[in-house]
Amino acid sequence: MRALAVASEVFPLIKTGGLADVAGALPGALAEHGIEVATLVPGYPAVMRQLGETRLAHRFDDLLGAPADVLAARVGGLDLFVLDVPELYDRLGGPYTDAGGLDHPDNWRRFAALAKAGAAIGQGAIAGFQPDIVHSHDWQAALAPVYLAASNRPRPKTILTIHNLAFQGNYPYNIFPQLGLPPTNWSIEGVEYYGNVGFLKGGLHACDIATTVSPTYADEIVTPEGGMGLDGLLQGRGERLVGIVNGIDTAVWDPQTDAAIAKPYAARSLRERAHNKRALEGEFGLRREDGPIFAVVSRLTWQKGLDLVADICDDLVARGVRLVVVGSGEAMIEGAFLAAHARHPDLIGVRIGYDETLSHRVQAGADAILIPSRFEPCGLTQLYGLRYGCIPVVAKVGGLADTVIDANYAAVSADAATGVIFSPPSAGALLKAVDRTLRLYQDQKTWRKMQNAAMKADVSWRKSAKLYADLYRDLLREQP
Ligand code: ADP
Ligand code: GLC
Repeated sequence: MRALAVASEVFPLIKTGGLADVAGALPGALAEHGIEVATLVPGYPAVMRQLGETRLAHRFDDLLGAPADVLAARVGGLDLFVLDVPELYDRLGGPYTDAGGLDHPDNWRRFAALAKAGAAIGQGAIAGFQPDIVHSHDWQAALAPVYLAASNRPRPKTILTIHNLAFQGNYPYNIFPQLGLPPTNWSIEGVEYYGNVGFLKGGLHACDIATTVSPTYADEIVTPEGGMGLDGLLQGRGERLVGIVNGIDTAVWDPQTDAAIAKPYAARSLRERAHNKRALEGEFGLRREDGPIFAVVSRLTWQKGLDLVADICDDLVARGVRLVVVGSGEAMIEGAFLAAHARHPDLIGVRIGYDETLSHRVQAGADAILIPSRFEPCGLTQLYGLRYGCIPVVAKVGGLADTVIDANYAAVSADAATGVIFSPPSAGALLKAVDRTLRLYQDQKTWRKMQNAAMKADVSWRKSAKLYADLYRDLLREQP
């Protein structure tokens, strides 16, 4: 079986968040189920630079107004189709924003083109590559099922995975004529969304199956509180909306072989982990003392609830907790952490920015990772925390609730606990969770058992890749 994945980011070529990790790891996991995946990504400068040898797989004379090449390449074990359209992708900044952090004004065209190319490849544009499934990720790829459903030629089955419902790709109605969709698509069954064009909305309507990245998030998004305006549509999809929890690439994230960390370790050699804690203290200029180090590695945004951590920095220090923060995002939250660092320079370390290898050293050296998200479709940092014995302290939402076992009395008695779960996402509840975490930490025997259980938890793609593979197979059995 063959699948085309369509994604706006893919690790290790280009990453702003968890989507890239998923798009980078799922193909390898599906290969073990006999599914061959090629991934279509935009040819941003960062991607083009890393391609090495390429082959011209297809040329569009006119892809939404511009000539476009599809280059085939193999990088880091991934089969890639790279959409090379300098006019759309060859520019400064990140995948979505300019160097100043503002959205590119033509993002609708940049990602409609990606989806349209995906749909064309789905219908055989590349000789020798006919996918059975086109699997789109998030709003940036969501029009692929729309283009395919609108075509009157045979088409592959379509899956659309929601990684974050907060980003929907909504644009003014006047772009509609430029999308190259039939006029009938301007309707409630098409891309029309409260008088605007909704990329994700249209895709969720048109796809054969919609998935999201955890069962709890799948439950949350069919409610008015969690549905972000799309709950009605999602509820209407019934059994055609499925929650499958993300895995992680256990080769990239392996404390036994990780080249980024000071000292490799395993569950049975947890004592070695102390070297990584010392190294982390050194890297952040923290005072060396006995207490725990808590960590944050995240986009610093309202979704992630990191204003709540900023609010309790002084309380953490008062309890003998040191804190390291790696992240960037909203200016208010960045400022609050920098101010906390200024107040406690040798107890709170802050790195504003994005640093992949540093994120490994944090997971290897810190004692616990704080994830007080207000909503969290899946979350990967708690999975990295589990794998590295860095105990996750998480809000009871979405995938966080699905992947961490709270250290309640029964779980601790059964040596099953892997973290601390709290609710609701508020500064008060977070502080209580911190106190509970500290009590567990002070009982080092219990703490070791939790680290052991965490490191033993299966956070790989094994189970979830099987669920995706079954889903693909079920879809192919359905009538065209
Ligand atoms: P989201 O995709 O919503 O940001 P996830 O938890 O799914 O959240 O994925 C975040 C990914 O980005 C993880 O791999 C995490 O380690 C990484 N990450 C986030 N911020 C940073 C940062 N400042 N430096 C390095 N890695 C980061
Ligand atoms: C999104 C979500 C995050 C999820 C990631 C990968 O960025 O915010 O919860 O883990 O996608 O699916």
